[in-house]
Amino acid sequence: MKTYFVAVALAAATVFSGEALSSEDQFNLEPASLDQLEKAVRSKGDPARGREIFLDTGDAQCANCHRLQGVGGHVGPDLDSILGKLDIRQIAESLVAPSRKITEGYDTYTIARTDGKILSGLKLKDSDKELLLRDGLGKDTVIQKEQITRIEKSPVSLMPARLVSRLSRNDLVNLISFLKSPAAQLELKGRLSRAWITGPFSRSISRTEPLEKNPDPAKVAVSSSGKLLQWKLINARADGLIQLAGPAAAKKSSAYILALMKSDRDREAVLWLDHSSALRLLVNSETVYSTKNPATNSRLSIRLRKGWNTILSRVSNPTGNSTLGIRYEPARGLRLTADRQD
Ligand code: HEC
Repeated sequence: MKTYFVAVALAAATVFSGEALSSEDQFNLEPASLDQLEKAVRSKGDPARGREIFLDTGDAQCANCHRLQGVGGHVGPDLDSILGKLDIRQIAESLVAPSRKITEGYDTYTIARTDGKILSGLKLKDSDKELLLRDGLGKDTVIQKEQITRIEKSPVSLMPARLVSRLSRNDLVNLISFLKSPAAQLELKGRLSRAWITGPFSRSISRTEPLEKNPDPAKVAVSSSGKLLQWKLINARADGLIQLAGPAAAKKSSAYILALMKSDRDREAVLWLDHSSALRLLVNSETVYSTKNPATNSRLSIRLRKGWNTILSRVSNPTGNSTLGIRYEPARGLRLTADRQD
């Protein structure tokens, strides 16, 4: 039987003495080890810390692929309806050895094309003429059936098994306790976890730019000074705030952050804003909020129309690392996202 180990950070003492890890530091899918893990989750799991691990886009990457309370990507299955059915042991198994049991409908296919390219991913659509494949980064590719030379169902899950090996044992315990805590999950609700960013623009956030009329991430933005700027996707940090980053985030400038809000009808909605610097916010191209001062949990009532609405923020960036947090008060028929597909 294969044993899967979760690597743990070596304690300095262990390194110095050259001792092997004690069995307590290791975790695998043997019953005794699962017992220990289950006890640890129940007795000292910290769901709030686990939430940060879930959202961490660098190490655990869970939210890159999975959605929970409306937050996260759309590669793996939505976890809201799944987690309640899995006990601690089953969750541990699906994290450590994702390929042992693959969720129905989420098989990975490997496809060889006539041009010699090999692609792999989930089969989203399969018609007579073409096939739609989604890879582990959420990128979709349409493949013409006549271009396929071979197609195979892979025994390996698209969910990487090595992810949890980057976590310490404590972090794994905290992550699982978050996955078993509906209350801690509910706090994700309404958060904007991904958005589009473009810039840099002039410091003065009150100066309007042509892109404000029709902000569209699929189009190149042209600044009033004639610069051509791309929109880039940016993920929120583990604390839920979006930190301006990349070429758009030059010091002493400002940038635009774009999100989309879908509503099932014309109505009022409430946004909660956290910003570390001056901010001007536009809903469907109209400025509805403008302040020079930072704020936490600032409540803003906005008017939405039926369908998609643009939520555009002009964020001043004096230090080069301004942050912006947007949450909405959850209500049936409302959605806040970066991508219409989300
Ligand atoms: C690259 C995308 C990707 C990442 C990153 C990822 N997963 Fe998955 N996950 C999937 C896919 C695809 C499946 C469905 C196939 C399977 O069951 O292995 C899945 C399955 C699961 C399941 C099993 C669901 C069931 O029906 O039993 C759980 C639980 C889960 N993931 C949790 C997590 C957690 C927690 C993390 C972060 C440590 C994570 N995943 C990271 C793509 C991903």
